[in-house]
Amino acid sequence: MTIHDDLAEVLVTKEEISAKNKELGKILKEEYKDKKPLLVGVLKGALPFMGDLIQELDIYLEYDMMDVSSYGNQLSSSGEVRIDKDLKTSVEGRHLLFVEDIIDTGRTLKYLKELMHRRGAASVKIVTLLDKTDNREVDIEANWVGFTVPPKFVVGYGLDFKDCYRNLPYIGVLKEEFYAN
Ligand code: PRP
Repeated sequence: MTIHDDLAEVLVTKEEISAKNKELGKILKEEYKDKKPLLVGVLKGALPFMGDLIQELDIYLEYDMMDVSSYGNQLSSSGEVRIDKDLKTSVEGRHLLFVEDIIDTGRTLKYLKELMHRRGAASVKIVTLLDKTDNREVDIEANWVGFTVPPKFVVGYGLDFKDCYRNLPYIGVLKEEFYAN
């Protein structure tokens, strides 16, 4: 038995993710080639996507990471966003690109986007690998979306259930028996 056996289905394969990263890379290179953007990854989930995406961007850029909490180990958002680790880089006058693994209710990125505008960023845009549009509770859209996914319990490629499954190289749906009461 391995962690692969805990999945009901594979939603996005490793190959599809890789192709999407290349596609997004081309678009983002064009968008940011003269802007020396600051890419901001939101821990922990964004780590694999950030790591792969920056390798498609052979332009001058910087990256930094933030850690925020919205879910804890619960299955639905509490609606609160708490900053556990802030940026080390000043964002004033910078072109910021948030790199996220998933937008769900939208609360995390709505809060962070407004915060970066208040801090004086020149622009704030969002690229997310996954978008769970059916779960949106606040008005926020990503500028670039890898895949729109249904409101299922997705794990892998950074996404977790109780901090496990982030190391899967693809996106899958967890079997219900693992999270049902
Ligand atoms: C997930 C995800 C986003 C956020 C999206 O992070 O990485 O940051 O939730 O949810 P929202 O659109 O409903 O705000 P999580 O808080 O689970 O932390 P993690 O990345 O450390 O797993």
